Amino acid sequence: MVRIILSGCSGKMGEAVTACAQQNDNVEIVAGVDIYTSALRDYPIFPAFDEISGIEADAVIDFSNPAVFEPMIDYCVKNSLPAVICTTGLSDEQKAKMNEAAKSIPVFFSGNMSLGVNLMIELAKTATRVLGGSFDIEIVEQHHNRKIDAPSGTALMIADAIKGELDKETEYAFDRTQRREPRRKNEIGIHAVRGGTIVGEHEVIFAGNDEIVKISHSARSKSLFATGAVNAAVWLTGKQSGLYNMSDMISEV
Ligand SMILES: NC(=O)c1ccc[n+]([C@@H]2O[C@H](COP(=O)([O-])OP(=O)(O)OC[C@H]3O[C@@H](n4cnc5c(N)ncnc54)[C@H](O)[C@@H]3O)[C@@H](O)[C@H]2O)c1
Repeated sequence: MVRIILSGCSGKMGEAVTACAQQNDNVEIVAGVDIYTSALRDYPIFPAFDEISGIEADAVIDFSNPAVFEPMIDYCVKNSLPAVICTTGLSDEQKAKMNEAAKSIPVFFSGNMSLGVNLMIELAKTATRVLGGSFDIEIVEQHHNRKIDAPSGTALMIADAIKGELDKETEYAFDRTQRREPRRKNEIGIHAVRGGTIVGEHEVIFAGNDEIVKISHSARSKSLFATGAVNAAVWLTGKQSGLYNMSDMISEV
């Protein structure tokens, strides 16, 4: 049984992970951390990591806010707990701190915990190898109107994977409003749509002279991310220190 502390337990993903864990005999959520402590949960909720007491745990899952990152990762390092970090919008400094922490604990980080999205990324890498030299590449993502970071962590994951397959120097274009010039050949456009309750849509467009190839993924509920995070927590316990991602987990399945 893997005992989990769930960071961001009162949020939408916190609710989905709680429901997922209830149906999984291999895991138990033993505590939550959230500034909102009144959510109905069958485990204690602490308002901050430094207020946790009397809890024995095997791993932390974090679906919260970048503001929680430092206390969360410090707690994991201090208590030698594997960390599954799913929060998006982390700064470069926070990512550097994550790499530092991964020298002493196992850390799993993915901007998208869905199996389908990670397959989509592999397909986009293949398409880039075939088309990337001549086709223009644009990424469009869509999410609900309460999401605070843009573009999504997944869009950046896709962009980074594509960039890694290209021979040429590549830059990301998030905003073309300030210039009057044709599209630059060496850029990947990344566009964020926000509205309603959209769970998560990602599309990569490879636009050639007379043909367009599109690769897309559509998330229909948040539970797929919760399942991925819970599976990652089980997979991560017992691993050596290091930074892991979905590809590592998939390659062992
Ligand atoms: N990696 C993935 O696959 C994936 C999938 C979905 C969402 N996410 C990310 O997970 C995060 C949470 O998403 P959500 O939809 O559940 O958001 P949400 O706003 O519903 O939940 C966030 C929770 O964090 C809590 N919180 C915020 N600031 C805090 C603080 N300073 N201290 C303690 N608790 C704090 C809030 O009270 C809230 O309950 C976001 O960064 C989102 O982008 C990642």
